[in-house]
Amino acid sequence: MALFCNITIFPKPLVPSCSSQKTHFPKSTQNTKLDPIFKIKGPATLSGHVTISGSKNSSLALLAATLCCSGSSLLHNVPNISDVEAMASILSSLGAKVESFDGKMMVNSDGVGKVEVDLEEMRKIRGGFFVIGPLVARFGEAVVALPGGCNIGNRPVDLHLRGLRALGAVVELRDGKVWAHTANGKGLVGGRFRLDYPSVGATETLMMAASMADGITLLSNVAKEPEVVDLARFLNDSGASIEGAGGDTLVIQGKSQLYGSECVIKPDRIEAGTFMIAASITRSCISMSPVIPSRVSCLIDKLSEAGCKISQVDPHTLRVSALPALCLGDDLKSFDIKTSPFPGFPTDLQPQIMALLTTCAGSSLVEESVFENRMSHARELQKLGARIEANGNRAIVFGKDKGSSLCGSRVIARDLRGGASLILAGLAAKGTTEIHRIEHIERGYENIVTKLQNLGADIERSTLPSMPYLV
Ligand code: EPU
Repeated sequence: MALFCNITIFPKPLVPSCSSQKTHFPKSTQNTKLDPIFKIKGPATLSGHVTISGSKNSSLALLAATLCCSGSSLLHNVPNISDVEAMASILSSLGAKVESFDGKMMVNSDGVGKVEVDLEEMRKIRGGFFVIGPLVARFGEAVVALPGGCNIGNRPVDLHLRGLRALGAVVELRDGKVWAHTANGKGLVGGRFRLDYPSVGATETLMMAASMADGITLLSNVAKEPEVVDLARFLNDSGASIEGAGGDTLVIQGKSQLYGSECVIKPDRIEAGTFMIAASITRSCISMSPVIPSRVSCLIDKLSEAGCKISQVDPHTLRVSALPALCLGDDLKSFDIKTSPFPGFPTDLQPQIMALLTTCAGSSLVEESVFENRMSHARELQKLGARIEANGNRAIVFGKDKGSSLCGSRVIARDLRGGASLILAGLAAKGTTEIHRIEHIERGYENIVTKLQNLGADIERSTLPSMPYLV
């Protein structure tokens, strides 16, 4: 493991004594506003089977893509999470007809009469920016509030905008908004564009736009994430012609019209990964389906390196065992990770893996290379007794043999995946863990409490008087 200089050691948190098994929290002030929290009593042992929901990020991209299509599009296996609700609300606000029933969503955007997504909508979901491509391509115009930074980084949209310009769009920044339109009332035209970085969102924006541009578009250094492949499949089923999805170059033959089609959203690889890590951190054995094993192969490799036993029960079912008797060594061993675009280790599993590493034997180096500010969970994990030295986008995690042991405490979810890492740590910790700001977690995990309860975890969603002073 490579060591590094200028290490900042976060102040040692006050953690309740594990031996007492009792957590004392300050008495709440009189306040009528209630905030939802998750309360977990650990340590948990999990067993049984969990059903993995449809992919959040594929759902968001496909919902945006329905704006390209004439007639109705029907999406199956759409997760019931607040990010999907927010995207549906953006589509409705533009004039699309959106119906939601039994995990399905039917969208008809023939009646779209507005091309502006305002800041209020963008505040609910940053991914709302992805509608810029289909709006310009099909309706000739889009006005979308600049999403700005978020809790995990600055997240610029320069690649989306430069790519749209390469397809002939006129793009201006005014009043905190992006104004994009096609020149002289003509549509977009096919062109060539090389992404400086294989951004998932920019690849998706440009695929949607190029699918309706006049002529052939060549996009290079594009993202290879499975969600890009899912989007290409949906667009092709809707009449587009996209070749090369999953590789680093896309060749897109534009079509004047796309027609709504039907699609089953693929299982969420990040949710599957989170449950795989849940089995590992609790030294339990669980199975899960549906999973596409090739989409989580990087995690399978790392968990196997740690000593977990992962078996493929059938083409879409994985069993993960970290039961001490079945582990390859005495206990799970530490390992290093560095996040990178697919097929590298996913940034969306970095916080969860950091939680696991705090319980392994030995020290690990965790490097975040995709987002510049995705380490805020380290401070919260410290509140649970983890020993982590974080500096910028790198952290050294000291495992339990180096004095780290998790104890329940009050923690704050600061972003979606960081929040998931706190649930995992709470399952492994002795005593009660109280997680605040769970709205971040509920953006992306469908029925997380029920799913964990069914696996045997002692977790509940309850409310507490608001604590605005919590930071
Ligand atoms: N970037 C730029 N310029 C751009 C676009 C991106 O510099 O124009 C940079 C970003 O700032 C970031 C890096 O490129 O540092 C990667 O960003 P990317 O565009 O690939 O991410 P995204 O499309 O905004 C999607 C997922 C994220 C996931 C990333 C990386 C959706 C809605 N979001 O975001 O999911 O982490 O790809 O795989 O698809 C999550 O689910 O928790 C989540 C954050």
